[in-house]
Amino acid sequence: MTTTCIEVATDPAYPVYIGPAALDALVPNRAQGVALLADERVWDLYGDLVPTLADLPRLLVPGGEGAKTIARLEEALDFCTQADLSRASTLVTFGGGTIGDLGGLCASLFKRGMAVVHAPTTLLAQVDASVGGKTAINLRGGKNLAGTFHQPSAVYCDTRTLASLPAEESASGLGEVVKTALLGGEDSLARLEERAGDLLAGDPEALATTVAEMVAIKAQIVASDPTERGPRRALNLGHTFAHAIEHAAGYGRVPHGVAVAAGLGLALRASRESGLLGDPALPGRVDALLHLLGLPGGLRDLRERQGLALEPRALRAGLAHDKKGAVARPEFVLLRAVGEPQLGLTLDAALLDSLLAE
Ligand SMILES: NC(=O)c1ccc[n+]([C@@H]2O[C@H](COP(=O)([O-])OP(=O)(O)OC[C@H]3O[C@@H](n4cnc5c(N)ncnc54)[C@H](O)[C@@H]3O)[C@@H](O)[C@H]2O)c1
Ligand SMILES: [Zn+2]
Repeated sequence: MTTTCIEVATDPAYPVYIGPAALDALVPNRAQGVALLADERVWDLYGDLVPTLADLPRLLVPGGEGAKTIARLEEALDFCTQADLSRASTLVTFGGGTIGDLGGLCASLFKRGMAVVHAPTTLLAQVDASVGGKTAINLRGGKNLAGTFHQPSAVYCDTRTLASLPAEESASGLGEVVKTALLGGEDSLARLEERAGDLLAGDPEALATTVAEMVAIKAQIVASDPTERGPRRALNLGHTFAHAIEHAAGYGRVPHGVAVAAGLGLALRASRESGLLGDPALPGRVDALLHLLGLPGGLRDLRERQGLALEPRALRAGLAHDKKGAVARPEFVLLRAVGEPQLGLTLDAALLDSLLAE
């Protein structure tokens, strides 16, 4: 298997390298200063894959949402100062989406902005978080409330690192994979269906091919709308429901991509019931794919799996809390067909009630 390179055609454009040797290509230009922000667990497991980074100034932090705090941001900025970085320097992040989000935000703020290079090590970060330039930390009032758009100057998705992911983290990444394939079009969805068994088994070739396909889809969407004013909002397919689920369950109880999987099931049924979806068999098809991948296809599955009540009332409160719609008027991305999202839709109360009570 070779390394695939996909260009994200933002201004300026940047490459995303994908494959089981992608990290071999990560040789940062040291002339202007480079430092490394890594997940401490990832550094333990995979530091030897990046010998060219071994002698760089290094800040190790634990992965997880605890990395996305004001305190960690301050620590990372102080670290950049101590490492003598300048505006012309580069910060390399090595870890999951939390490390990329923290490092991206730190790089965008330090001396009004320096370069960031991501080396994502979770499936979710490889197919989603590392591409597109969104950065964020969490505030007391909620997730991702403080952030910037700051495109990386390169991304290295080394699929070898996915071998050690806990099952829950792989499942979470697969939820975003199904979402992206649904936006990519019929061919992407059909190829994912073919590959589902291999993916679940962690087959390296299936993983590398899937990451490359999903990055290509996301790259295209992001390049068309780098700051999410319009079409990029399609990437929120399944997410209004997912955020309500995460809110109702208590953040951290349901892995994000698993909530997205259930949200996709709901979004597809909403698309059909509201008369938007051309092919009435699509919800059943996606439900089967989610199950093949070990993911829940809706609320009933999710309740059983996670042993959670997820009462309709709590879900409704979660929907009202979602920041994308106007106050208490949540907006949804639905599908007319595979690859044809429709943005900014509201659902009538009776349909919403019946979906949440399923
Ligand atoms: N910026 C974006 O566009 C964007 C998009 C989607 C999600 N996100 C953000 O990404 C975050 C979630 O990312 P994540 O799921 O990667 O979480 P994460 O960074 O917390 O990683 C999940 C867990 O896996 C561990 N880990 C990482 N790589 C590993 C490996 N190779 N082997 C074993 N363990 C490993 C981490 O230490 C952590 O415990 C959320 O905060 C979310 O808001 C951002
Ligand atoms: Zn998501």
